[in-house]
Amino acid sequence: MSHGMVQLAYLVATGLFVFSLHWMNSPKTARRAVLAGVAAMTLAVLATWFQPGVVHHLWIIVAIAAGFAVGVPLSRVPLTAVPQRTALSHAFGGLAAGLVGTAKYFLWLGDDPSQLTTFRMTAIVAEVILGFVTLTGSLMAAGKLQEIKWIPQRPVTYPLQNVGNIGLLSAAVLIGLALILNPTAAWAPAAFLVLVLMALVFGVLLIIPIGGADMPTVISILNSYAGLSAVAMGFVLDNKLLITAGALDGSSGLILSIIMCRAMNRSFTNVLFGAFGKVQAAATGTEERVYKAETIEGASQVLEQAGAVVIIPGYGMAVAQAQHRVRDLYNELTKRGVQVKFAIHPVAGRMPGHMNVLLAEAEIPYTDLIEMDEINPDMPQTDVALVIGANDVVNPAARYDKSTPIYGMPIIDADKAHAVFAIKRSKNPGFAGIDNELYFQDKTFMLFGDAKAVVGDLVKQLSGGSGMH
Ligand code: TAP
Repeated sequence: MSHGMVQLAYLVATGLFVFSLHWMNSPKTARRAVLAGVAAMTLAVLATWFQPGVVHHLWIIVAIAAGFAVGVPLSRVPLTAVPQRTALSHAFGGLAAGLVGTAKYFLWLGDDPSQLTTFRMTAIVAEVILGFVTLTGSLMAAGKLQEIKWIPQRPVTYPLQNVGNIGLLSAAVLIGLALILNPTAAWAPAAFLVLVLMALVFGVLLIIPIGGADMPTVISILNSYAGLSAVAMGFVLDNKLLITAGALDGSSGLILSIIMCRAMNRSFTNVLFGAFGKVQAAATGTEERVYKAETIEGASQVLEQAGAVVIIPGYGMAVAQAQHRVRDLYNELTKRGVQVKFAIHPVAGRMPGHMNVLLAEAEIPYTDLIEMDEINPDMPQTDVALVIGANDVVNPAARYDKSTPIYGMPIIDADKAHAVFAIKRSKNPGFAGIDNELYFQDKTFMLFGDAKAVVGDLVKQLSGGSGMH
């Protein structure tokens, strides 16, 4: 393939990547977006492979086979595990960038040190630091989300932690600068390896003070690091597609993390250094207060007599995989003329669009999934708010209690409905570790149990079956 053809293929691939991101804006075009992304990546790999200078085809075939061997099982993970799966992809991206940077440095150093220009060395240093930080950072993030035993879920903090971390990063940057200025000095190869080691350690230290449930935001930040390391790799390899695709990856990751931070009313610094979800937030002095429990029969009666019901799903619905039962409940109620809408909080669950994807999987019409800002004005006219495994996103303390970590986070106004039913397994708090005022209100009734089982029982009761839990 001629140089011109390769560049043309890169241009088409870049265009497809841009459209792919654009089509992700709506669930209706999301499938097309995925296909466009796959086509763009396939084109990019093939065009690179057929470049005139590429002669070791066997290695490329082995690499593609290895990619399939890892990629196919990864594509089969359940939806709740998608954030950690995504983190693993970033880890691989970071590893690739870090290894390419390292290989290029040592190859040029051995073959032709004049190639190690200041520009290239700057790109290599950036690539290696970002790549290896992304590798270990993403692995830690994936481990926390997967709840791997030896990785603590809760934020781990110790004195002078931030100072130590910033010191380590500054030292790595200083070594990087020294390498840029003296890439061929006798000490340079050893210093390069120390730089790699420091980046690997920094990736781990960056993540341990962050709580498990903040990981989706962190993963998105790491996504932008992986993108930036790909940009640097593009400069090292003089590959324009890597530069544009890396820039798209880097900026979309950054934009996504900004959107998530806004939806939680938190800043980047608070996510990265706030040790959110630490146990200290757990006690709010409400342990003495009592919840009112309701029976399946009672709840079903109220639900079927309601005019308007708003279902508020959260992380618990995802964990319980209750979406299909929820669809059955939706059917039972709409059949009786009850108007049923779903209130979607932007950070309900553990990844952006988590609830939309689950409910779409259960074939609940998109038109009944209403965003928080749109549904909130309707909440005072709602007969029943049915909270299914959501907690922080309906906690009224976010409006007024400055001492809680969720203060300022916009919430779904479940407390303004005439009556509230809340399904959860226990009296435990949600991700932020604080009790929920909503559950102690006079008009709130708890339906304790696993979301799938409880919603299943409601459906059975409504459809006239037996087998209550
Ligand atoms: P959470 O506050 O995490 O509450 C989920 C509730 O579900 C828990 O109180 C839990 O109570 C219940 N639950 C768990 N498993 C259950 C099951 N099998 N059946 C029934 N209930 C179950 O969830 P949320 O309201 O969706 O809020 C999301 C939180 O994640 C927010 O604080 C948000 O800031 C954070 N976050 C989200 C994102 C994105 S992008 N979505 C990113 C970063 C952080 P029991 O243990 O008593 O059952």
